[in-house]
Amino acid sequence: MANENKKIILTADRPTGKLHLGHYVGSLMRRVELQNSGEFDDINIMIADDQALTDNADNPEKIRDNIINVVLDYLSVGIDPNKSTICVQSKLPALHALTFYYLNLVSTARLSRNPTVKAEIALRGFADEGLPAGFFCYPVSQAADITAFDATVVPVGEDQLPMLEQAREIVEKFNRIYGETLVLPQALIPENETQRRLPGVDGKAKMSKSLGNCIYLSDSAKQVKQQVNGKMFTDPQHLRVEDPGHIEGNVVFTYLDAFANDDHFKRYLPEYANLDEMKAHYMRGGLGDGTCKKFLINVMEEMLAPIREERAKWEKDIDSVYDILLDGTKRAQEKTNATLARVQTAMRIDYFKDRSIIKEWEALLKNK
Ligand code: TRP
Repeated sequence: MANENKKIILTADRPTGKLHLGHYVGSLMRRVELQNSGEFDDINIMIADDQALTDNADNPEKIRDNIINVVLDYLSVGIDPNKSTICVQSKLPALHALTFYYLNLVSTARLSRNPTVKAEIALRGFADEGLPAGFFCYPVSQAADITAFDATVVPVGEDQLPMLEQAREIVEKFNRIYGETLVLPQALIPENETQRRLPGVDGKAKMSKSLGNCIYLSDSAKQVKQQVNGKMFTDPQHLRVEDPGHIEGNVVFTYLDAFANDDHFKRYLPEYANLDEMKAHYMRGGLGDGTCKKFLINVMEEMLAPIREERAKWEKDIDSVYDILLDGTKRAQEKTNATLARVQTAMRIDYFKDRSIIKEWEALLKNK
């Protein structure tokens, strides 16, 4: 097996829109930490345009346009192209070949049990033209992504756990049939409960563009303010400041759970030492939603302002962004091609690797 004992990261995003706060706390923030920890030998971040096409076949422009949005989001949150390889999936043909082999190791029954795919099918409907086979099989292509990089660690949001489970099954089956070849990957999800699944500003379980309940990393300060003040769901029973308030399901507090620390209180709301004290006051009554929202906006701005500034810099230099993607993709091609060669050798389909099969075939014909 190649790359033994190396610590390798692969993670990816579908370029179907700009990345939002849910992506940030669920995964991006962690990636930057891991990148800067110095603990990993190799870090790869992929723009999964092929996966995005599995349910956008009729709208390739959307994918094309959002590749630049996602790269800018990466660069602005602190993904450093000198430390992390940023690459584009569709330009890694080894992934397509691996997918084709792995498809033979998975039953359609197993695929239809994947809870994430099930939920996504329910969400999208696919009523008119039926479920695209490519979409149904995308967990297999995701296993190809992960194994092609020999990833040991895959930092993802909680919703991706079933994908990792399926990838691990494919790895185990491949290694059982063809011998130890593929590296068994491990998912890494956020420790903080609220960071795993940040709700939309309206309290709906998922941030989604069509629901208009997102805060994007690229939003202006004004847009952030509008989402919080105009749309953020609090406690409908908390009508007057003096009324006792509820924390459960109150999105302002969910977001504070995800983002606020004690230092924020020192800077912006020194009446409380920490979030527990603030919550206690809210529940007792006497703390208004306006104050809570204002604090949250300060906390978020402290995080978002530097991201916005960094993005503005890169936006002026798309030439360099292009080169970052191109360089990263070339490096990724080398890595993934090497894995494909190893896989084909394990599978005994490496006919043209050298001319040694001539001897084999000749011996076979002689013994006939
Ligand atoms: N399915 C992932 C998502 O929707 C994106 C993805 C594609 C991915 N390939 C991957 C994530 C490989 C981790 C590893 O967010």
